[in-house]
Amino acid sequence: MFSKSGRDIPSPRICDTVWHDGEFIKWNDARVHVMSHVLHYGSSVFEGIRCYATKKGPAIFRLREHMQRFLNSAKIYRMDHKWKIDDFCEASVELVRRSGLDQCYIRPILFRSLDEEHPAFGVNPFPNPLACYIGAWDWGKYLGDEAIEKGVDVGVATWSRLTPNSMPAMAKSGANYMNSQLIKMEALLNGYSEGIALDDRGYVSEGSGENIFIVSNGVVNTPPLSSSILPGITRDSVIQICGELGITVKERTIQRAALYVADELFFSGTAAEITPIRSVDRITIGAGGRGEITEKIQKVFFEITSGERPAPGPWLTYTNEQKAAGTSDNGRPAETKRGESHAAEPELVLRAHALAAD
Ligand SMILES: Cc1ncc(COP(=O)(O)O)c(C=O)c1O
Repeated sequence: MFSKSGRDIPSPRICDTVWHDGEFIKWNDARVHVMSHVLHYGSSVFEGIRCYATKKGPAIFRLREHMQRFLNSAKIYRMDHKWKIDDFCEASVELVRRSGLDQCYIRPILFRSLDEEHPAFGVNPFPNPLACYIGAWDWGKYLGDEAIEKGVDVGVATWSRLTPNSMPAMAKSGANYMNSQLIKMEALLNGYSEGIALDDRGYVSEGSGENIFIVSNGVVNTPPLSSSILPGITRDSVIQICGELGITVKERTIQRAALYVADELFFSGTAAEITPIRSVDRITIGAGGRGEITEKIQKVFFEITSGERPAPGPWLTYTNEQKAAGTSDNGRPAETKRGESHAAEPELVLRAHALAAD
């Protein structure tokens, strides 16, 4: 069971260096003023990226796609900054190198801060300067160690997900996570590991920090972007893995009741990876554990993230030049230097735009 108090959750190992606006600073020096705009009005966008341990050293999973989403989130909120995608990719690679960690979670964040010489305190964000940081820590299994194998018990939230014309779910903004917190707290207080939110029309949207997949009659279904979901990068990876495995995937609106009668359910997300769901509202899903198709997808996902199996695309960015020399994750000669990502134009983002009107 996931802790309600949080007190019995072990502290993660933290990288004592933080990237700040182009410099590497000490963890203890990464501070903000309490009157910063972001603390009062939620004006931040951020990312969550995993770096996996592989035989060729640490490898960041779909770095470029995450950074493209980070840029998109900033653009939606009119955060005009000077950073390019390569700056963020290079900074992340260097941070992992400096951390000495063989695996970690990387957290870029861009927010409205406070100009202490010319302070501004109103809702209008434009006078407040932007600050950008990237931190990293070693995070274990987000929904508990057993969750990946045994699955989790979840409940449908009484809170709806955001509406597209209030808080765009396409942007990964800090403020969106107030809605996630309502969903999560309710779930924990009701004895569940996680909550599933419906969209404003009553269709299944997503978990507080994960996308959701529903397996019925051998077909893998997932809500479209129009159901107010974050365009998840793990979600996109699952869709591509299903393509490789010859499993049909359909993006379609899903009724709450369809959750209860599904053969299998699972969450996808950077933190949660691929986590089976064994019950919803105390109704057992399928045989009450990890389903066959979920297991197949999960197996391929972990083989790819550990560098043991070629990915459908250039998904891994190795941070250690020596160990990774000679090959990229897809077995072809590495074409990139340290700090450069392997990916070309992130197709996820293009797909996200295409689906936004579903
Ligand atoms: C609300 C929400 N949905 C979905 C996801 C999954 O997205 P990704 O796979 O890119 O981590 C996350 C995690 O970042 C999330 O917070």
